[in-house]
Amino acid sequence: MQQNKNVYLNGEYLPLSEAKVSVLDRGFLFGDGIYEVIPVYFGRPFHFAAHIRRLNSSLESIGMPVLYSQDEWLEILAPLIVNTQDQYIYLQITRGIAPKRDHAFPDQIQPTVFAMCSPIAPMENREDGVKAITLDDSRWELCNIKATTLLGNILSRQQAVEQGSAEAILIKNGYVTEGAASNVSAMINQVLTTPPTNNEILPGITRDVILEIASQQRIPFAQKKIPLEALKNASEIWLTSSTREIVPVVILDSEKVADGKPGPVWRKMHQFFQELKKNGHE
Ligand code: PDD
Repeated sequence: MQQNKNVYLNGEYLPLSEAKVSVLDRGFLFGDGIYEVIPVYFGRPFHFAAHIRRLNSSLESIGMPVLYSQDEWLEILAPLIVNTQDQYIYLQITRGIAPKRDHAFPDQIQPTVFAMCSPIAPMENREDGVKAITLDDSRWELCNIKATTLLGNILSRQQAVEQGSAEAILIKNGYVTEGAASNVSAMINQVLTTPPTNNEILPGITRDVILEIASQQRIPFAQKKIPLEALKNASEIWLTSSTREIVPVVILDSEKVADGKPGPVWRKMHQFFQELKKNGHE
């Protein structure tokens, strides 16, 4: 792959500057599309099968057909991976270009498929932990779909950033759902606790990976609802995502989490995660 043909759009590899989509694309007009973010470590996509499964589930949820098999996706995406740095593939599929603006699905429409690969900058302050705030979860009831329609998430993250925090942890009816762009786990009474997957959260792949590690390493864990009060009293809080891995929260709403330092279980989990990255998983 030539260095400059660094994006994929509808069957072609192009320089980013030449990748153009019509203003009638329903992704642009309605946010009518879904996406995936797949981390790539040492040149290998991490948990590729799980990401493709979630992609297919998102497509199905919005009434779109499965486009390619896992192997076909790998063939499409592999040329975008040009070095061995930590990076991520951003893959977006919209319903496509309709002849006119109408909310209902048009007949006979070709999906728009776009992918690019970008570096993941090393997170310098991971060992120090980050600040987070809690906010009301103002989003819709289909958060299990990885939809490009992200206004609720964006407005929440922006509020966090404006308050000097790395993430907004969202609360619905008194319980933690997830972060604006991450899942949440907490050590509560020595048990690694994370909310169960349902329509209120995205079923995060990193979340699954840490539960798998917990199970292998005999770290007690539970998929259980977390009341806000329990989060505030947790001995550790972590955020997980494909671009940030596992990040300890040390300040929540201006209060220290335990002693205000990343905890011992995070340290262990982070170590195990680094080993998995090297071993290349699926
Ligand atoms: N977001 N919840 C939300 C709302 C997210 O946006 C993400 C990730 C996650 C974590 O999922 P995973 O572990 O599969 O990355 C949970 C990506 C990174 C993004 O939108 O950029």
